[in-house]
Amino acid sequence: MNTYKVVITRRVPPPAVEMLAQAGFAVDLIDQDNPPTPEELLQRARGAAGLITMLSERIDAALLDAAGPDLRVVANFAVGFDNIDLAACTQRGVRATNTPGVLTDATADLAWTLILATARRVVEGDRLVRAGEWTGWAPMQYLGLQLSGATLGIVGAGRIGTAVGLRSSGFGLNVLYADEQPNRELEEQVGARRVELGQLIADADVLTLHVPLTSRTRHLIGAEQLAAMKPTAILINTARGPVVDEKALVEALRSGQIAAAGFDVYEHEPRLAPGLTELPNVVVLPHLGSATTATRRKMSQMTAENVIAVLTEQEPPNPVN
Ligand code: DGY
Repeated sequence: MNTYKVVITRRVPPPAVEMLAQAGFAVDLIDQDNPPTPEELLQRARGAAGLITMLSERIDAALLDAAGPDLRVVANFAVGFDNIDLAACTQRGVRATNTPGVLTDATADLAWTLILATARRVVEGDRLVRAGEWTGWAPMQYLGLQLSGATLGIVGAGRIGTAVGLRSSGFGLNVLYADEQPNRELEEQVGARRVELGQLIADADVLTLHVPLTSRTRHLIGAEQLAAMKPTAILINTARGPVVDEKALVEALRSGQIAAAGFDVYEHEPRLAPGLTELPNVVVLPHLGSATTATRRKMSQMTAENVIAVLTEQEPPNPVN
């Protein structure tokens, strides 16, 4: 029986720990919910054959070198893998994997949670009631955006963007999307139309982001794009924080260039741009996109499957390099 060491960098739901132990690996679980310090991570990774890592950890050459020559797989507990230096992994013969598919529905649901919450000013209303300041029904109170007949603009029509678009049919929205590829499913099922990003930004009443973070999508939405949006429009981000220039976002919300924003992800998590939380017209969540019990269990299982595959000389199910 081999005794490969597999480090899991955070407390995770079952069954990853159980599966790895059953496969005969020595599991070194960093048994906490908060991220380990970079020093602790370097130290714990030493001698590992496998790492199960979180999106908030930078997996770079320094960490790979600290782990040492036994390291063969980095299984990210996320569909996004912008936190991993893939070239550094490949150079060292380390496989990197992710968890695609299983979090599509949970993340699309959360995007809709933010769409509805911002459009109908749910959090502002809740705050008023809790503060004991509600004086009764009023015709002008917290008027929001009527979703039926409005235009939903989807930036990135991959798995999650598609699931968000398909969920729109019950709300009577017109759907536009921008993507390099046409998306027949969206077009046939909800009558979506593919347009250029510039037109999408200008026409959307709700602009929702579903692109991975790459050098091409960093600050895809900056001051210029925010200025091109309708003053009544809402921006939703459940993708990756750096896709939006957060400082420019605060300015756009402050000056009324856009009406509201619903965010689950931030440029420098867990820090938010100064001023963002002071604005009444934003809903801010702590990166909960995939946070359902069922989804997180599937993610846990997938990471273990990927590690086990690589460490038993098989092709991992979800390679990204
Ligand atoms: C992912 O998997 O990339 C999500 O952001 C995690 O919630």
